[in-house]
Amino acid sequence: MDTIVYLKNMLRDKQVASFTPTSIFGIKKVCDKIDFRKKNVIIEYGPGTGVFTRYLLDNLTPDSTIILIERNVEFVNILQNAFRDPRLVIYHESAENVVELLARSSIKNADYIISGIPFSFLPHPLRNTIVKKSAECLRPGGKFLAYQTFFQLDKFLKDYLDMHFKKVRTEFCIRNAPPIRIFEAIK
Ligand SMILES: C[S@@+](CC[C@H](N)C(=O)[O-])C[C@H]1O[C@@H](n2cnc3c(N)ncnc32)[C@H](O)[C@@H]1O
Repeated sequence: MDTIVYLKNMLRDKQVASFTPTSIFGIKKVCDKIDFRKKNVIIEYGPGTGVFTRYLLDNLTPDSTIILIERNVEFVNILQNAFRDPRLVIYHESAENVVELLARSSIKNADYIISGIPFSFLPHPLRNTIVKKSAECLRPGGKFLAYQTFFQLDKFLKDYLDMHFKKVRTEFCIRNAPPIRIFEAIK
């Protein structure tokens, strides 16, 4: 069902960049870098239909917060109908406005940012702006967790992560269509 929604939206909006949601294997591999035992503030860029969001809500403490930033209006409508949870704030916005959106939510900084947005489709200055502002929003030790299709060159994302974060690790998840490369950047 989700695949039909993604396909439809991908044809109309190239920034959707995926014909199907991330697999549970990909979701778990990204989220095993999160400490779910403590209260967290998590920002998610490009939640789509909310496959990561659901996993996060199932695993986060009751006093945690998730801020969703999604630029596709159809996905925003789906998210608003699918989730009624006091821990969730949904913005129909673009990731480059993250600093302002965090301030609007009266939150000082985030513990994690999860990003599924297609960096290879963005112009160079915007890639740099999003990674720089993400680093600004995280607490020291906070993590930027991103996933991209496995064949993306370092120049689309990793080079910017190296520029703005202290430590960057990458790994692959092949149990996803297509396989993904996962980035764990620590502030
Ligand atoms: C590859 S899909 C990932 C969807 C979902 N998170 C998943 O894992 O299946 C990319 C998502 O990022 C959104 N997106 C693209 N550019 C964005 C931006 N600048 N800010 C916020 N969302 C963006 C798209 O609309 C789409 O929902």
